[in-house]
Amino acid sequence: MPLDYEWRGDIVKHSAIIGNGEKFEAMLRKMAGLGPSDPILVETGTHKGLSAALAAKYFAAVHTWDLRPRDVARTVWTKECVADRVIQHEGQVCVGALPERFDAAFIDSEHTFEGCRRDFDVVHVCGLVLFHDYDPKFTGVIRFVEGIVDVYGGAVYRDPPFALWFGDEREWD
Ligand SMILES: C[S@@+](CC[C@H](N)C(=O)[O-])C[C@H]1O[C@@H](n2cnc3c(N)ncnc32)[C@H](O)[C@@H]1O
Repeated sequence: MPLDYEWRGDIVKHSAIIGNGEKFEAMLRKMAGLGPSDPILVETGTHKGLSAALAAKYFAAVHTWDLRPRDVARTVWTKECVADRVIQHEGQVCVGALPERFDAAFIDSEHTFEGCRRDFDVVHVCGLVLFHDYDPKFTGVIRFVEGIVDVYGGAVYRDPPFALWFGDEREWD
């Protein structure tokens, strides 16, 4: 069930992900279903922790990175009873601190071409990467996603404001 934070104004006033919560959850459910029974997600861009809270309902563990971790995120995870499944990291996602195994990634940090490339270069080894804000307002995200198959191979499923990259050429239905 989508999180509804409209009535929780004391915690979170706005999050773009909530506006697309049902679509995001459908994506998460399918992505998690493609992995092992204990799928692990890596996220870039924690912000107030809402996307991680949703993801932790489908993934056994969510590792999330932000340049500026906020206390409110942990409050949200505690209220949503997922705090034991979310691991918060500070800084840019980097190879050294990644979990040994992860089955999918969600990129929602710096919405520039270079930001997408930097995150994607690190996380695409998992073979399943979801981008948020695949939207004309974010030209860097659009430009990166549109060039992704030429550079990395695989296939892209587009459902704005999301785009999902597969390392293989499977179809998403
Ligand atoms: C759009 S918000 C993420 C929203 C969150 N995923 C959600 O839906 O609830 C983007 C976040 O990325 C963080 N950020 C920006 N550049 C970053 C970078 N290079 N590495 C990690 N986090 C970054 C910002 O501090 C901000 O909190």
